[in-house]
Amino acid sequence: MQQAIAVLDSGVGGLTVVKEVMRQLPREKILYFGDTARTPYGPRSAEQVVAFTREIVDYLIQFEPKMIVIACNTATAVALDDITARVSVPVVGVIGPGARAALGRTRTNVVGVIGTEGTIRSGAYEAALNLLSEDGVKVISKACPGFVPLVEDGNFRSAHTHEIVEEALAPLRGTGMDSLILGCTHYPFLADTIAETMGPGVALISSADETAREIRTILERTGQLAAGDAEPLHQFFCSGDPAKFREIAQTWLGAQIRLTPVVWQVPHIGA
Ligand code: DGL
Repeated sequence: MQQAIAVLDSGVGGLTVVKEVMRQLPREKILYFGDTARTPYGPRSAEQVVAFTREIVDYLIQFEPKMIVIACNTATAVALDDITARVSVPVVGVIGPGARAALGRTRTNVVGVIGTEGTIRSGAYEAALNLLSEDGVKVISKACPGFVPLVEDGNFRSAHTHEIVEEALAPLRGTGMDSLILGCTHYPFLADTIAETMGPGVALISSADETAREIRTILERTGQLAAGDAEPLHQFFCSGDPAKFREIAQTWLGAQIRLTPVVWQVPHIGA
C-alpha cells in the first residue's frame, strides 16, 4: 500500500496547500483532515488548538502516513513542536515556508502578515522573518478574524466579502509593504478580492508553493518520493457538514473527492 502524506487544517483552508502538492507531486497520495465542526481555530486558546491538533494527528496516524503537514498557520504557530515531538515521521508546518517565500520576494524589506488572531498573537511570523532575514525586515501584522467564516461558507467574491476585506485591509495600504503574507491557509480562496484591495504594488505570498517544495525536499532526502505511474487514491475526512466540504473541495481542486465524514465531539470555546 502506498504511504500517504497526511495534511490537516481546521477546515477547507489546507486545501490550498493540497492543490499545490498535487500539482508539484502528482504521484503522492494525500490524506486530508478538515476539522470543519470546530472551525475556526483562530479565536481559540493555544491549549485548545494544541489539543485539537493532537487529536487529528492521532486519528491520521492510524493510516501510517510517511509525513504530517500542518496546513494551518494557527496550529503551526502553537503545535508544530509538540506534534514533531509526538510522532516519528517528519512534520512540516506552513509558517517557515511562508516567511521564506516573502523574503525571497520583498525588495523594500517591509512585509505584511495577515492571519487569524491566534497566529498574529503568537508572533510566529515576526520570529521566523527576523530569524531568516539577512538584511533586517520590518513586519506589519494584522489579524483578520472575519475572513475564515466567509471561506468556510464558500463566500469568496460577493459584495459582502469585498466590504469585509476592504475594511480589514485599509490600514495596511500606504505602509510601504511590497509583499503581503497570506498567513492563513484559508486566505488564498480570497486572493482575487485581497489583490484588488491591496493594488498591484503588493505581491500576495501564499505558503502553499514553498511548503510543497519543502515536502519534496524531505521526501527526496529520505528516499520516500512516490514511484510508479499509478494514480494516487486520495482520501478526505471532515468533521462537519460533508456536503459543504465536498462542494468547496471539488470546486477548488477541480476533481471529485472521496470523502469520509468523521463524528467528532464539539467542545465550545472555553469548554
Ligand atoms: N486555516 C487556518 C490557518 O491557516 C485556520 C483558520 C481558523 O480556523 O481560524 O490559520
